[in-house]
Parts: sequence; structure tokens; C-alpha cells
Amino acid sequence: MKPTIAAFPATRLRRLRKSPAIRAMVSQNSLSPADFIWPVFVRDGEGVVEPIASMPGVNRLSVDKVVEAAREAHALGIPAICLFPYTDPALKTEDCAEAWNPENLSNRATRAIKDAVPDIAVMTDVALDPYNINGHDGFVENGEIVNDRTVEALVKQTLSQAAAGADIIGPSDMMDGRIGAMRAALEAEGHSNVLILSYAAKYASAFYGPFRDAVGASGALKGDKKTYQMDPANSDEALRLIERDLSEGADMVMVKPGMPYLDICRRAKDAFGAPTFAYQVSGEYAMIAGAGERGWVDGEKVMLESLMAFKRAGCDGVLTYFAPAASRLLNG
Ligand code: PBG
Repeated sequence: MKPTIAAFPATRLRRLRKSPAIRAMVSQNSLSPADFIWPVFVRDGEGVVEPIASMPGVNRLSVDKVVEAAREAHALGIPAICLFPYTDPALKTEDCAEAWNPENLSNRATRAIKDAVPDIAVMTDVALDPYNINGHDGFVENGEIVNDRTVEALVKQTLSQAAAGADIIGPSDMMDGRIGAMRAALEAEGHSNVLILSYAAKYASAFYGPFRDAVGASGALKGDKKTYQMDPANSDEALRLIERDLSEGADMVMVKPGMPYLDICRRAKDAFGAPTFAYQVSGEYAMIAGAGERGWVDGEKVMLESLMAFKRAGCDGVLTYFAPAASRLLNG
């Protein structure tokens, strides 16, 4: 039922904004460190903190430094950390075998974090691009990104991540049928408690540019990802993808990128009521952090406002590179 609003002056909506106390009483959404998943970039070595030029304030970290980051995240109240490996170019091949190597960077980082900070949830990325000589998320045969053979490889990658101790598997590849195949394999191999957060509605976006620098995929990538990632013009298709992934056994779903796609977040939450996340991606981060660094906007305020927008749009949480900085501010 729609509440009736009395005519002015009986209704003065500014009364509800008159003081911090009243504003706090009627505030509809809130933001806390528990809303964040923190994506971090892992690289080889020890004691390494390597800045990423296109993402001011974000570094590639060696495994020992990732463990420190996880400790810090846990102390701040951030519930989950998400790992993206920067793979040595010498390990990139056509068959992407490094993706399911039990000793690969992502698996080593997962084990180290679960050893040192068992209470933080570790999310891992399922897709072939960090290991693929041509930078694509799937196998390429005669110029085509092939689906079914890729799904078989993604299942192997999933199982190796689950065996390393990943709590949440994050398939970011956009192949068809992968969620069902991964869910069945996890069940069969004794990993029935491993969650799947599906990158269900992932768009072919120019906002991923800095990320591809961060994981070293920019140089490798030939062509674009438009035959598997979504057309930014579409929204009904996003709902079909989300419904499909939920029906195949995804526990949670994601919309990606975030801020340019808040309409999709709202529609997804309203349609399915599933745990819904947005990924505030590298290009969104770079724009806010870059403009903040130059003093063109108040970086901290814009950061918090951008994160609140996800909550307002119906998201249960956000993957954001701002997770530690925002949490420090929110914790006072
Ligand atoms: C690829 C992947 C991408 C991101 C996460 N996983 C980039 C892409 O699809 O090319 C982007 C994240 C970001 O931009 O922050 N599997």
C-alpha cells in the first residue's frame, strides 16, 4: 500500500533531515566492513609489494604479504578475501595446465591464508585467462573460444582450488553449463560445503582495463571477449543468466561491473532474492582513486558514496579494492 502524503505545509519532508540524530533514525541503508569482499593480486617472491600503476594504492603481493593482508582484513571485520594470481608469463600455455596445478600461486596463497587466518573466507577465481597464452578465459581453437572443453578444464581448476581450501569458488569465465558441472564435481569429490559465487551477469566491459594490467593479461589478450561476456545494451539477458546459474547450483550471484550496472543489481535482487553481489571493478576504482589523488573529487567521500550505492541498489555486498580503506574509515 502506498502511504499517503499530506499536502504542504502539513508535510515538510525536510523535517526528516533536520539533524544528524533524525537523519540517523530514518537512514534506510548502512555500510560496514562486513559488506566487503577484498580482491587482492598475488605474485611470486617473498616480501614483495609491487605497485600497480593504473590502480593507485593497489599492489601485487607475494604470498607472505597476502597473508599479512588477510590478517589485516580480518582485524578490520572484512569477511572475505578474493585471490587473483599474476602468473609468470613463462607458465602461460595453450593448454593452461597451470590453472589446476595444486602448487600454483593461487593454491599456495589459499593454503597459507587458511593456515594463518582460518576465520577469513577465501574466494578464488575460476577462469583460464591468467594461464592462457592468448589471454582468453577459455580455450581458443581456430579463433573460436570453445565452450565445452573449457568447462572440463574449469572443473579441474575448481577441484584444485577446493582441495587447497578455498571457501568460495568464483567462476568469472562466462561459459555455458559451468555452474552445474562445477557443482556436481564438488559434490562428488567431498566438497559439498564449498560455495559458488557465480559471476552470472558479467559484461564485456572497458572498465576491466587496469585489472588486465594487474594480472599481466593485457599484452596477451588477442581480440575481445564479446562472444562470452555480455553486451552492455542488454538487461533481460542478465536475468536469464542469473536464473540459469541459480538453477544449476550457484549459492550467490554477481553483477559486474558495478556502478554502471546498478539497474541490473536491483532487478536481480527483486526477481530472485538470492545473495547478490556487485564487483566494483578496477576501472571504477581507478577513476575514483585517480581523481581523488589529484584533488578533483574528495576521494574518501566519493568512495563511501559509491559503496553505499550498491547497498541501495539491493546488493548484499561488494567486491571492492577499497575494502581496507573504506573499513578503516567506517571503523573510525
Ligand atoms: C577475468 C576477470 C576479469 C576481471 C575479473 N576476472 C577481467 C576480464 O574479464 O577481462 C576484472 C576485474 C576488475 O576489472 O577489477 N576472468
